[in-house]
Amino acid sequence: MKHLDLDLDVDFDERRLRGSVTLSFDRVDAEAADAGEVVLILDTRELAIHGVDCVGPSGSVETSYRLGGVDPVLGASLTIPLSPDTTQVRVRYETSPDASGLQWLTPEQTAGQNHPLMFTQSQAIHARSWIPLQDSPGVRVTYAARVRTPLVLRAVMSATNDPTAPTAGDYVFEMVQPIPSYLIALAVGDLAFQPLGERTGVYAEPSVVASAAQEFEDTEPMIQATERLYGPYRWGRYDLLVLPPSFPFGGMENPRLTFATPTILAGDKSLVSLVAHELAHSWSGNLVTNATWRDFWLNEGFTTYIERRIIEELYGRSRGEMEAVLGRQVLQGDLDRLDGPDEVLHIDLTGRDPDDGMTHVPYEKGALFLRHLEERVGRTRFDEFIRDYFEAFAFQSITTADFVSYVGEHLPGANAADIEEWIHRPGLPTSAPQPESEALYRVEAQSLTWQDGSTVAAELDTGVWTTHEWLHFLTTLPEPLSLDQLSELDAAFTLTESGNSEIAHAWLLLAIHAGYSPADSQLEQYLTHIGRRKLIQPLYEALVATPTGRERALAIYRRARPGYHPISVATIDPIVGWES
Ligand code: BES
Ligand code: ZN
Repeated sequence: MKHLDLDLDVDFDERRLRGSVTLSFDRVDAEAADAGEVVLILDTRELAIHGVDCVGPSGSVETSYRLGGVDPVLGASLTIPLSPDTTQVRVRYETSPDASGLQWLTPEQTAGQNHPLMFTQSQAIHARSWIPLQDSPGVRVTYAARVRTPLVLRAVMSATNDPTAPTAGDYVFEMVQPIPSYLIALAVGDLAFQPLGERTGVYAEPSVVASAAQEFEDTEPMIQATERLYGPYRWGRYDLLVLPPSFPFGGMENPRLTFATPTILAGDKSLVSLVAHELAHSWSGNLVTNATWRDFWLNEGFTTYIERRIIEELYGRSRGEMEAVLGRQVLQGDLDRLDGPDEVLHIDLTGRDPDDGMTHVPYEKGALFLRHLEERVGRTRFDEFIRDYFEAFAFQSITTADFVSYVGEHLPGANAADIEEWIHRPGLPTSAPQPESEALYRVEAQSLTWQDGSTVAAELDTGVWTTHEWLHFLTTLPEPLSLDQLSELDAAFTLTESGNSEIAHAWLLLAIHAGYSPADSQLEQYLTHIGRRKLIQPLYEALVATPTGRERALAIYRRARPGYHPISVATIDPIVGWES
């Protein structure tokens, strides 16, 4: 598959995309025809296929097709017999209202309350729920699209976007660089645009766009820092789209247009490492892509490593190290919980949903591995190595083995046995880097004086604490805390009222564990307004640990579930034992 042309109508009333995709492909094996019937096999999930045409120089001819049985993880194959000279196929189809890769929001679920909004989330294998295609990160395509929407709404894609295009219900897009299917993205809503610089800007609902622009004001300096480190930004524009709070992830690195959760709009830029992260994917992931989902760490480990380097460039080493320490901490949490095989970078996902591989292991263990290589060969040499790596594999999808052999050839000083241990064994090698943060040590010291009763909470020296210090404080307290201890902290620091989504999350987790009821209504508010999986999943898991908590979880979930994205619903349903 080389290129696809999308032609879609966005139907908010029926919650469907309807139209066609025309797939252009190369015939790689010229002899295949001699062996019998030649077929094109596409991935689909819950699509209604209206017809398939073989497109040739003399027009298009309707052709037969077979839809295979439904696999719970993979969906259904669409098999199209090809006549000898066909190199283009058009599939006419529509999506299901429950498509796993789409979320349809009612006006009430948006900030503006006046217009509906929809968006796609294709990673890992949800593109097939809105486009029939070869849904593998090992296949790259260019694409063009024409999208018709209700008047007044704006459509944007992971492609060329024109912020000055009139909102007249008809949009065209082009992505001229070959990308894997998981990066094809579309959003439609009442979207305003505010520029951040010559090549960057932010899309969001009108009432959100100004605060988003302020929060993201460092985007252009981030791009420049990354270019200094790793070579040119190759995608033209870099814009961000801030979605409503139901967006199931923190961010999604759709090329030219990162999708982001509004929960990072903290007001003080303290959560912009997410922008650094999604921007870093413009090199690691979008330019050099994991060929299979087993190689996911190549995307996320590199990106987490680069994210920290960007943070260090912009905000200094102390902040970079704080984030590295916090990262190592959440990794340790996963390593304590996971089975050995899931702690391996080159994870075996046979028969599983690739989303099962989304733990902190590919992110944080992957980043530590790269930091380890950096420490062995020195930063200057390592930066040069990564720059060359991006150049060597630009616009290609590669495997872990490709990476290992590239290291073998281009990074003398890296030790083969060492590399094998990092990539193929569970846990962390003893040689694993230990990020250290003076600032976080000071937090620990303060925390101890409170824990041993020598200082009351109100007198703790928290004046200079940033979000990271607060998170470290809250996530390292010895549990369970008593109700008196929680009241004391709350009285001193109004934590129940925190408007910072990460601090609120850490606090609510403590509150659930301790049964601290003054936070009850805040918890309910949080879970019914935010659908970001990382923030809500641990809260539900904590709730269901007790019988009364389970009841509460179900009661809250009953109200919250209609507003959650299918991806979050799929995660939370089994946790609370939901039966529809
Ligand atoms: N590409 C991921 C999101 C993703 C991964 C979606 C796998 C679906 C399947 C994105 O770059 C990401 O890692 N987002 C993180 C934020 C980041 C700062 C760690 C998230 O959403 O929490
Ligand atoms: Zn990522």
